[in-house]
Amino acid sequence: MNRLLRVFVTGGAGYIGTHTCVELLNAGYEVVVYDNFSNSNAEALKRVEKITGKKVSLILGDIRDEALMTESMSGCDAVIHFAGLKAVGESVEKPLEYYDNNVQGTLCLLRAMEANSIHSLVFSSSATVYGDPEYLPLNESHPLRTTNPYGTTKLVIEGILRDLYRSNPLWKIMILRYFNPVGAHKSGLIGEDPQGIPNNLMPFVAQVAIGRREALNVFGGDYPTHDGTGVRDYIHVVDLAVGHIKALEALESPQCRAVNLGTGIGYSVLDVVNAFVQASGKSIPYVIAPRREGDIAACYADPSYAREILGWSASYNLADMCRDTWYFQSKNPEGYLLS
Ligand code: NAD
Ligand code: UD1
Repeated sequence: MNRLLRVFVTGGAGYIGTHTCVELLNAGYEVVVYDNFSNSNAEALKRVEKITGKKVSLILGDIRDEALMTESMSGCDAVIHFAGLKAVGESVEKPLEYYDNNVQGTLCLLRAMEANSIHSLVFSSSATVYGDPEYLPLNESHPLRTTNPYGTTKLVIEGILRDLYRSNPLWKIMILRYFNPVGAHKSGLIGEDPQGIPNNLMPFVAQVAIGRREALNVFGGDYPTHDGTGVRDYIHVVDLAVGHIKALEALESPQCRAVNLGTGIGYSVLDVVNAFVQASGKSIPYVIAPRREGDIAACYADPSYAREILGWSASYNLADMCRDTWYFQSKNPEGYLLS
């Protein structure tokens, strides 16, 4: 049984946060969510309670409000830190907002943790810290570099966490580098609910299937991949959520390590489109468009370290990811608030 009973979850109302709250509650943890709803809403947490039949404590606050966070995390045993801004294009336009929210917010969080003598932390990083891959699959010792301010905030935070551990070996820190999270909880109650036009592939495809968008622009048809379109390591968000429980359980002794969470399998844009057609029974019109600036040809994980350190590996395949995305999309055609 878990020894860390009460978990403080920043950004717990968001896409990955809600799915992780479900797994935490089902595993017997108590959950305190701290979120400013800048990219989420209270309805998502009500649905977490509906799925699990358990209560979530919610504190409406910003991670840059150090005093409120210090007070709010009192009595917690560990922190999972999801809160952050995550849109790559927006980060290029508004770098200061990204550094302030993500980096400054994390500094406040770490000071609040120290003030409460909480030293167990799971942090949401991203495969974006590997930049344009020098080799594939990507293992954790691949060189780190970034190509946009969002990615740089993740890299800077990873560095801060390593320095913190060096300064005080009481810290127990797991940095999780996610590949491409997609899918939704099988209940269809929670899932990804992007505001405006989706930047990412899977939500865009789902909105084409439901008829909210006319056609998918496939960004680039001339990459050196099996069908010319970009290849990524898509991972079911429930697998990712379970990875966080495994990471908490692995924080028994002082450490600071980074672990990939991916499946190890790369699928192209057209593989995803075809799987979604199968899952939904809908047609997905698409046009081959120019490459998107900053995109890379292929990116997928070597997931073996996660197996070794966390005893974790992904269990859902692309068909499952498309099925669950489609179920959430069809139950919530206009997103959470209008469904
Ligand atoms: P999300 O936007 O759905 O969730 C983030 C949550 O944090 C939201 O509920 C938002 O309201 C909250 N938040 C943002 N800034 C805050 C602040 N200053 N104070 C309090 N709350 C704040 O995003 P997600 O997809 O669930 O991502 C969670 C984390 O995982 C992020 O740190 C993101 O960078 C990282 N990540 C996501 C992906 C992905 O594709 N979804 C990939 C790699 C890494
Ligand atoms: C993007 C982010 C990355 C982040 C990740 C999380 C960029 C440049 N990178 O990665 O930092 O960690 O999301 O999931 O935004 N595609 C289309 N048409 C679309 C949308 C996407 O063809 O409308 C293609 C892309 O070119 C890519 C693939 O689909 O080949 C996946 O794209 P996306 O879902 O945006 O994820 P990434 O670009 O891998």
